Amino acid sequence: MKHPEWVKHKKLIEWVEKTAALTKPDNVAWADGTQEEYDRLCQLLVDGGTFTKLNEKKRPGSYAAFSDPSDVARVEESTYICSKRKSDAGPTNNWMDPKEMKATLSKLYDGCMKGRTMYVIPFSMGPIGSPISHIGVEITDSEYVVVNMRIMTRIGKKVMDVLGKDGDYVKCLHSVGAPLEKGQKDVAWPCNKTKYITHFPEERSIMSFGSGYGGNALLGKKCFALRIASTMARDEGWLAEHMLILGVESPKKEKTYVAAAFPSACGKTNFAMLIPPKEMEGWKVTTIGDDIAWIKKDKDGRLRAINPEAGWFGVAPGTNEKSNPNAMASASKNSIFTNCALTEDGDVWWEGMTKEAPPNLTTWRGEKYDPNSGKPAAHPNARFTAPAAQCPSIDPQWEDPAGVPIKAFIFGGRRSNAVPLVYQSVNWNFGVYSAATMGSEMTAAAAGTLGKVRRDPFAMLPFMGYHMADYFNHWLQIGRELPNPPRIFGVNWFRTDENGKFIWPGFGENMRVLKWVVERVRGEAFALESPLGWMPRYKDMDWRGLENFSEEDFNDLMSVDSEIWKQEVLGHEELFSKLYDRLPKEFLFMRELLRSSLWRSPSKWGMEPERF
Ligand code: OXD
Ligand code: MN
Repeated sequence: MKHPEWVKHKKLIEWVEKTAALTKPDNVAWADGTQEEYDRLCQLLVDGGTFTKLNEKKRPGSYAAFSDPSDVARVEESTYICSKRKSDAGPTNNWMDPKEMKATLSKLYDGCMKGRTMYVIPFSMGPIGSPISHIGVEITDSEYVVVNMRIMTRIGKKVMDVLGKDGDYVKCLHSVGAPLEKGQKDVAWPCNKTKYITHFPEERSIMSFGSGYGGNALLGKKCFALRIASTMARDEGWLAEHMLILGVESPKKEKTYVAAAFPSACGKTNFAMLIPPKEMEGWKVTTIGDDIAWIKKDKDGRLRAINPEAGWFGVAPGTNEKSNPNAMASASKNSIFTNCALTEDGDVWWEGMTKEAPPNLTTWRGEKYDPNSGKPAAHPNARFTAPAAQCPSIDPQWEDPAGVPIKAFIFGGRRSNAVPLVYQSVNWNFGVYSAATMGSEMTAAAAGTLGKVRRDPFAMLPFMGYHMADYFNHWLQIGRELPNPPRIFGVNWFRTDENGKFIWPGFGENMRVLKWVVERVRGEAFALESPLGWMPRYKDMDWRGLENFSEEDFNDLMSVDSEIWKQEVLGHEELFSKLYDRLPKEFLFMRELLRSSLWRSPSKWGMEPERF
């Protein structure tokens, strides 16, 4: 089990040997990141029944995988932040004492890789060698994880070269928790009923057990790039955020980069790859990232962002040639599809890909699809893993080690009434307040939750590595240190009319909002004062190609109802009371300012045209 000659890091080798002694795999293999290795592992997955090779003509170089029905999504209830002190994890996280957690895990890891190969994957989050990037090493007993990590991150020998003999890295240990006895046949998707996704922020390490799916197993993503990185960012003065990054190019070819946070399932990937309406000639959106942003200050005090990932792990259902042609093109080849349906000619399909389901589908459960069954052909959380480099809208600077300069932050949830289509916070602190109190209406039809507002500060609720209120303080502090901080905006694509129908068409039409945002940043657009901040009037928006969207509808979208907002502020208080002991003092004053401005305004703070 000798390590290859390109591995020279003694401490890393020791950790690998210690882990092998505990987990007892049959073999240890270091991932070098080559195409040859990728192809060989994919073949192994095909031979073992995990992968189905897709039709080479329709979907070249691509595979479909189907998980165990019990292992289909992130498991928030089994996700822990194991800081030494419970108070450092804060009231929004599950916590267990690190020693206790390790004692529990040691028992589970003992012999858990028997009959399997243990892979060691050195990976870089961000362009290799960038001052904004960081390195991790994932140990896993899943070939599925190795091949997905090769798409989602940069892996292999070139990463070890940067790590050298003694570089810092985040330890990521993963096991599906399904040892094989001698002669025991493997299943297509090994996993364990017992699942733990655990983080040790003080020692910068992650231990994940029992799941092979997405964010539970591809540890570079949510576990490292958000939960562990958020604590690194707090300690080192930078930001690790659940944000997409996009570039907006104007007809004058001026480029403005924007980062935007939305809770899961609010269309982040679609927004990151937006195609403007053709009537808005000369406007273009380019993509840097669709899920995570790492942002550091440069020597001139500007914020520069990278996408730490190298691929999209996108939700498949609902993605189609109209909603997101760039995502469709990204996943047109060299991609992995998990829990999608199979067509009779060896391609994949999911709900919403086409209006009509093609005939003779096989569902993600391997059954013949019955359109009358009421059950979907693809799992609602079915995913595509696709290389970012294949995205037609990828920004030419997406791998620039210096990152791109961020000029605006956008925050948005799913709100049927309270929040207007777009507004600009009056300053950094109010922007931080509005991001911290962001809410989103729940879409899951779990009894009693539908439509309920869940506070999801900065869209980070499931991804925070420390005390949420300390994170608010960290954001306020970042603002204090910037000579000219980015402007902060709130958006809401999801307002509904009295019949519950969405008022705003969304998708590519969101370009109209983005254009106003970019023009505000550049000092080129007008805005009016409102209790929440600055807002565009109807005539400040570009309506070319959407001329039939009426001023009345726009005013409905933009109205700020005092009665609803009084309730909304009570919702803020509920969040604050949970976090009271570490809450920034500024927040209480800002809440009162907000409340008093609502108190004085007319009950419908609308955009009645005659007022202007
Ligand atoms: C994701 C999520 O999968 O936010 O990106 O849940
Ligand atoms: Mn996400």
